[in-house]
Amino acid sequence: MIEPKIQKVLNSLEEKIEYEKVHEYDIPLDDTLLAIGKESGLFLNTLLKSQDVKKILEIGTSFGYSTLWFADVIGDTGKIITIEANEKKIAHATENFTKAGVSDRIKIIKGQALDVLSDNQYNEEKFDFVFIDADKENIIKYFNWGFSHLRPKGIVVIDNMLYPEKFKPYMSKLHTHIQKTPNAQTSTCPIGNGLEITLKLRITS
Ligand SMILES: C[S@@+](CC[C@H](N)C(=O)[O-])C[C@H]1O[C@@H](n2cnc3c(N)ncnc32)[C@H](O)[C@@H]1O
Repeated sequence: MIEPKIQKVLNSLEEKIEYEKVHEYDIPLDDTLLAIGKESGLFLNTLLKSQDVKKILEIGTSFGYSTLWFADVIGDTGKIITIEANEKKIAHATENFTKAGVSDRIKIIKGQALDVLSDNQYNEEKFDFVFIDADKENIIKYFNWGFSHLRPKGIVVIDNMLYPEKFKPYMSKLHTHIQKTPNAQTSTCPIGNGLEITLKLRITS
């Protein structure tokens, strides 16, 4: 059961997502959602509701479609920090969060993700869940930052592991990197565009 106000905004964004699938190349880049889609959104919402998830970091907000699925998980007592570089997309996301009644749960940070993450004020933060869905050039750096700022039994999820094809070289390097990361257990799930789900194991020694 998704909060009704959130569900209503998700429904209207899903109409745009369907339109975008057919007309992607006719839409200016600033106006594209490039969203995870309903299958991945519902899957992650279900997965996270089975855990005690209150604090989330998201890299790549766009119009806030994925953020809304996460806002439903954390309820009024949780907090999401979401990073986005594109001002126009931030304006759309802000409007969508207001319509869904979840603005208090979400802090949008405008900027390049690497600059934001290297800002000292976030160094002491620990997250229950980190979602990475931005540029792929820096994906290993985003993973390293996210994984090191995760509490034990926390999860990092990365979108686009399987699609589109053009991201494959980055994603296969990333997968190899995660497999070599101590204390990480990872699985590539063929849901939506392919979700890499990495669990931070509890440190036993
Ligand atoms: C695939 S879209 C995110 C979709 C969103 N997670 C969803 O499912 O609704 C990627 C977003 O990341 C933003 N982005 C890309 N590179 C970035 C960077 N280096 N720093 C901050 N934002 C970035 C883009 O402007 C774009 O809005």
